Amino acid sequence: MMTKSKKTYSGEETKMNFIDKSIENYAVRKSETPSNLCDELESFTREQVEMPQMLTGRMEASFLGFLIHALGVKKVLEIGTFTGYSALAMAEQLPDDGKVVTLDINGETGKIAHDFWKQSPHGHKIQQVLAPALESMQQIKESFDLVFIDADKGNYLNYFKRSLEMITDNGVIVIDNVLWSGKVLQDNPETEDTRSIQELNDYVSSQPDLYATMLPVRDGMYLIRKR
Ligand SMILES: C[S@@+](CC[C@H](N)C(=O)[O-])C[C@H]1O[C@@H](n2cnc3c(N)ncnc32)[C@H](O)[C@@H]1O
Repeated sequence: MMTKSKKTYSGEETKMNFIDKSIENYAVRKSETPSNLCDELESFTREQVEMPQMLTGRMEASFLGFLIHALGVKKVLEIGTFTGYSALAMAEQLPDDGKVVTLDINGETGKIAHDFWKQSPHGHKIQQVLAPALESMQQIKESFDLVFIDADKGNYLNYFKRSLEMITDNGVIVIDNVLWSGKVLQDNPETEDTRSIQELNDYVSSQPDLYATMLPVRDGMYLIRKR
């Protein structure tokens, strides 16, 4: 089990709340949210795992679930599994023959994910790949209706460009943390992660062949599809 004294990932040290917590809680209460098992996984992660704030949480998971239904998604590619919360939340919304392929390098958090997925009737839809995500993305030859990018920020632009090659014609790419707790506003970015996210955001917003919408949900979600 991963102890709280251990550092696993250098990003996401702090999180800014863009909206009042009580308003967000109200929105969550009025939304379809993931299963009790997802809640248990969230609690376990908060209590036992370093950097629990990396987990997407109920508001974002609800939104991803809505997209899955609205777009009729059958295949999801997730970049950044962590303890498996968002993969499980998305699997719960997929049809029985749907699948989530989820990529991560961390075997320790991957084991926690696997142990929780085993307890779910939707766990069979999840395929876990433990390797550097960019390498896995080069090897995977199938296409996906939805790609969710939520891993190391330095590779965000690489993940995005490869994702464009991997989505179906009507496919959607969702990128998490694109507001980076507001640090994207820095003229002289203090960290490489901030610079990388700014570069990604500038690239996406300058592409005339893409339709992109950035939502200030949680830490910022970018929704992108081809025109
Ligand atoms: C923000 S967390 C993912 C959170 C997850 N989507 C959730 O909602 O619970 C980011 C993950 O990216 C993984 N990661 C970092 N660098 C990676 C790389 N080069 N390849 C694959 N995964 C990587 C980390 O191990 C970490 O688990």
